[in-house]
Amino acid sequence: MIPPGGDAEDTEALRCKWDSRYRATDRFPDPAGVLLENRHLLPTRGRALDLASGLGANALLLARWGLSVSAWDLSPVAIAALKTRAAAEGLALEAEVRDVLCHPPAPARFDVILVSHFLARDLAPAISAALLPGGLLFYQTFVRESVTDQGPGNPAYRLNRNELLRLFSDLVVRFYREEGRVGDLDRGTRDVAQLVAQRP
Ligand SMILES: C[S@@+](CC[C@H](N)C(=O)[O-])C[C@H]1O[C@@H](n2cnc3c(N)ncnc32)[C@H](O)[C@@H]1O
Repeated sequence: MIPPGGDAEDTEALRCKWDSRYRATDRFPDPAGVLLENRHLLPTRGRALDLASGLGANALLLARWGLSVSAWDLSPVAIAALKTRAAAEGLALEAEVRDVLCHPPAPARFDVILVSHFLARDLAPAISAALLPGGLLFYQTFVRESVTDQGPGNPAYRLNRNELLRLFSDLVVRFYREEGRVGDLDRGTRDVAQLVAQRP
């Protein structure tokens, strides 16, 4: 993730980091729980964006479910792999190498926006504005108050308590989950906060 105010050199270093990670792994990520568990809230048609898609597990799922999907990520390696997978399945999916901090989505473009395991706080207003009226944001990423050591080591890239609610306070909350370290820590959905919210 690019720190606000990051320069071109930072961006290139970040791109190299993610490219090497994607080259080095055979593991395809699981789709985000916030999407799987709230599929019933999705429209059956429309335009969806997987922002900072990585290998695009969520983008592929949305396309299989009938949406016209754009997937944007900084990493050319991830985007090339996603294009290959989508083509093999004959899916309607446009995958693009794009720095979403320099080139955020335009206003009122998408029926659905999915963000998974990516946090750029300054981008929240643009994400919210990019939803069409009635459009839905599905967001899931790591919290500071975690149970395991999954996710980024730098706490700046982890959510504070209730932070997703604050970042998207202009939207109507349809689903929210943040369990922190309450109760039986061997159970539940830990380490992440999950939000589904709707543009009025
Ligand atoms: C932890 S991965 C998550 C990928 C995917 N959303 C998932 O859940 O599997 C974070 C992704 O953010 C991308 N990324 C980081 N900064 C970005 C930026 N400024 N613009 C676009 N993508 C970015 C990285 O290339 C990487 O693929």
